[in-house]
Amino acid sequence: MVEFSNENIHFRLFKNKGLGSDYISELINSEIDGNNSLSKSSVLGLATGSSPKKVYEKLITNHNKEGLSFRNVVTFNLDEYYPIEPESQNSYHHYMYENLFKHVDIDPKNIYIPNGMLDPDDIPNHCEAFEHKIEEFGGIDLQLLGVGGNGHIGFNEPGSKINSKTRLVQLDHKTRSDAAEKFRGLNNTPEYAITMGIKTILKAKKIVCMAWGTSKAEAISQLFNKEITDKWPITFLKEHPQVELVLDEEAASLIDPDFLKKEDLVNK
Ligand code: GLP
Repeated sequence: MVEFSNENIHFRLFKNKGLGSDYISELINSEIDGNNSLSKSSVLGLATGSSPKKVYEKLITNHNKEGLSFRNVVTFNLDEYYPIEPESQNSYHHYMYENLFKHVDIDPKNIYIPNGMLDPDDIPNHCEAFEHKIEEFGGIDLQLLGVGGNGHIGFNEPGSKINSKTRLVQLDHKTRSDAAEKFRGLNNTPEYAITMGIKTILKAKKIVCMAWGTSKAEAISQLFNKEITDKWPITFLKEHPQVELVLDEEAASLIDPDFLKKEDLVNK
């Protein structure tokens, strides 16, 4: 593993996503254990998609074999498609139960996922209530993030503003075509989603963002330009004081090698 920093972001580069995912699951495990030992709850912001699957697998193993308990864990999911039924195979609600929640001892009343089935008129209130709930729990302790090939975080597509909050958004054509296979065609792929905003994400105390594979390399390379730009929403992470970016070699493949040499590399 190689680690280096650029501006506020601390990078950890692993040989592959398995090792990177092990590292992230240990971070989450320590967050939960640390809070449990202080009798405090842990407030986690959770991501979906292919990127965190191995992280969740490892957490389930830790729950089964090492007694990791989710009894004092509260979770807020980043986003959900709209419209979508929670029971749909492609909903993030379904994803979270299948990939984590049904395998651990989390209390269902501590699970918050944007509702993809609301009447359109009820969406603004729902989004505001979601933001308030996060505040009520004292804010998110650790936000897990993936990144889209176009640099989106959550479903904050290019053009999203730094002060955006939880809201209904229209999905980018690229995001929809990336998801089209799962939905059996672009016509069946939702056009909208409800997502935490950039501001909501940046309010988390710690952020851990993961990127695996060459399809993420261009978005990651944008973090090495001076500019913070809504063309690449991931660059807003530079505004946060405590971000860890966990990469595999492919996702790091477009980082300028000169940059890596100039930095204070630590090889472990
Ligand atoms: C999806 C999700 C994001 C996710 C990203 C990457 O559209 N809304 O939260 O991080 O795109 O997905 P994947 O991990 O499958 O590459």
